[in-house]
Amino acid sequence: ESEGGTPTRRANFVVVANRLPVDRVEHPDGTTTWRTSPGGLVTALEPVMHSHHGAWVGWHGAPDEVLDPFENDGLELVPVPLSAGEVEDYYEGFSNATLWPLYHDVVAPPEFRREWWDAYVRVNQRFADRTAAVADEGAVVWVQDYQLQLVPQMLREQRPDLHIGFFLHIPFPPTELYIQLPWRDQILRGLLGADLVGFQLGGGAQNFQRLVRQRLHLDTRREFVHAADGRTVMARAYPISIAAESLHELASSDKTAARAAEIRDDLGNPKVLLLGVDRLDYTKGLPERIQAFGELVAEGRIDPEEAALVQVATPSRERVEQYRHLRDDIDRQVGRINSEVGRIGRPPITYLHASYPRDEMAALYRAADVMIVTPLRDGMNLVAKEYVACRQGDDGALVLSEFAGAARELRQAYLINPHDIDGLKETILEAINAPARVKARRMRLLRRQVFEHDIDSWARAFLDDLDRVVGDQLDWPAR
Ligand code: ADP
Ligand code: F6P
Repeated sequence: ESEGGTPTRRANFVVVANRLPVDRVEHPDGTTTWRTSPGGLVTALEPVMHSHHGAWVGWHGAPDEVLDPFENDGLELVPVPLSAGEVEDYYEGFSNATLWPLYHDVVAPPEFRREWWDAYVRVNQRFADRTAAVADEGAVVWVQDYQLQLVPQMLREQRPDLHIGFFLHIPFPPTELYIQLPWRDQILRGLLGADLVGFQLGGGAQNFQRLVRQRLHLDTRREFVHAADGRTVMARAYPISIAAESLHELASSDKTAARAAEIRDDLGNPKVLLLGVDRLDYTKGLPERIQAFGELVAEGRIDPEEAALVQVATPSRERVEQYRHLRDDIDRQVGRINSEVGRIGRPPITYLHASYPRDEMAALYRAADVMIVTPLRDGMNLVAKEYVACRQGDDGALVLSEFAGAARELRQAYLINPHDIDGLKETILEAINAPARVKARRMRLLRRQVFEHDIDSWARAFLDDLDRVVGDQLDWPAR
């Protein structure tokens, strides 16, 4: 059959996401292996799945390939096939050249193409069908992110018995931007198929509420929406997080300590190691960060004999035009700075365009004195939380953009506006030079925040609320 086989057991907990937690990689010699998929969604949901024992429905990252359900690392994975044309139109097109820039405050211009929308509808329907075949009677189905916003409604049409949650990992934009979307009402209706719609921040939930009032003329009260079919839908913020304890443990091991020391040694044992870690994405503010660092070195305010910047960037969406341009721009920018102010054996910037396993990331975080996170817009930014979780004692400093969702919780970071290069430069210097006791006080508070609000508490908060909405234990609030 064309959609792949059905698993023998039906699941009572199902996560549905564009990607499976692993990608299928083909090697030149014809062999294939699996590797962890990029991005924050997988980082956050993998530990949730390990504790909930359900099925994960998603695409396995390769085009034109139909696979049967399989088990990997104890997780039950249900692949959804995409043709090469669908990868172009649904994934690279509508998801990543229309919705992604539109939802990130149009930091790049979104493109609106009707054939992309058609593919988005078709693929969302396939995800809904696949999920309907896998979910047991009355199961909890948790649909993830902007690629699948029509799935809640499509699923409810087939399976009204399911308890449907939806979580958006990226920002939900201000109404003035959202209404540019030609298919704005269809997407709102798609989301309202869920019992609970979760956002990273309260502002996103409010934007959504305002839109369903304005566009669909629905009644809303506090965090509730009265849907057209009479159901009560809840819309609320659940700031996502990481498995802080287990990452901390990994970072604290002797092996990680040795690797962190080795990294510093390979860099010539700089006094100050600055670090950036991102998917190579134009929302992440990489040019601003590199510019600020480059100017500090050129002006002699940072001595490349004493400080080094390591930037690791995971390849991402490499066939989308804006991502190709970004990659070329960063290559040029880093090349220029290293060639102008570098000395033999001491390039000020070490730039690695690659993805690394978790233990190597933990060693990098552990080795870094200052973490620089500068997105122009970001739903949350888990990198900031990972850095904090990897601290040993209260050392280190986090420079963090105000425009990352994480800035709402991580108030004791060195907060910056990435558009303000001078301000960014001053704050980087402040983070480098602050007295140890000032850094320690800030880091202590950051650590408390991250450990007290980890991924388990995120999942529990969402799933408990979903239970309550479905069980009708929430009264439609009186005015
Ligand atoms: P996004 O979801 O937009 O990619 P996040 O900061 O929320 O951004 O999550 C990124 C995740 O990807 C983090 O878990 C981070 O550790 C991981 N990551 C980023 N860059 C790399 C890299 N070069 N190698 C391995 N993992 C990376
Ligand atoms: O939420 C951000 C996100 O788009 C996730 O949906 C996704 O897993 C991650 O970034 C990586 O992007 P992609 O799946 O397009 O490689």
